[in-house]
Amino acid sequence: MFFNNLSGDLSSVRCIWLTGLSGAGKSTIAGQLHQRLSAQGLASCVLDGDRLRTGLNADLGFSEADRIENVRRVGEVAKLMAEAGLIVLVAVISPYREQRRLARGLFAEGEFVEVFVDAPLLECERRDTKGLYAKARRGELKNFTGIDSEYQAPEAPELRLSTVEMDAQTCVALVLRRLGLTD
Ligand code: ADX
Repeated sequence: MFFNNLSGDLSSVRCIWLTGLSGAGKSTIAGQLHQRLSAQGLASCVLDGDRLRTGLNADLGFSEADRIENVRRVGEVAKLMAEAGLIVLVAVISPYREQRRLARGLFAEGEFVEVFVDAPLLECERRDTKGLYAKARRGELKNFTGIDSEYQAPEAPELRLSTVEMDAQTCVALVLRRLGLTD
């Protein structure tokens, strides 16, 4: 894969923050981005909600307070990773605008890119890759985002990626372009 660096030197972006409903495609995009950046010799890391919740955030559930704490920790870890020189790819629902704003505030101007991975609830529910929406509809899972827990869509994200209109590869290409990298 060949990239031209449009801006002449690497962009100032340190954190790509992917927010969206469960099943919208955040992890898929983050994983592919990670691979594409690696192929360019650029070191990145993925901070994925599901993964972090098995370890660092294993003590947290899905109440409003726990999600706030979850996203706070992810932001702090992202900052540390970015300071260590990595491009940090965050994939967490991060349902509340205020917590995303606070995460952004940990970074300097231009370092933080909010990406709305946008798929309507109906589509995420149709995909239901983990079977969790069905569980939530049956009442076996409480506080499920989009069902009985709020998702506050970004009002002015740097990028909006519709995973209904575009496949993951196209979404990744758009993010790379935002980084000043292109095929
Ligand atoms: S966040 O809201 O706190 O940002 P996070 O991204 O860490 O969420 O975790 C979301 C993942 O946890 C989902 O993709 C899904 O696999 C799983 N999950 C389990 N219970 C819930 C729930 N009640 N609401 C949303 N996601 C849930």
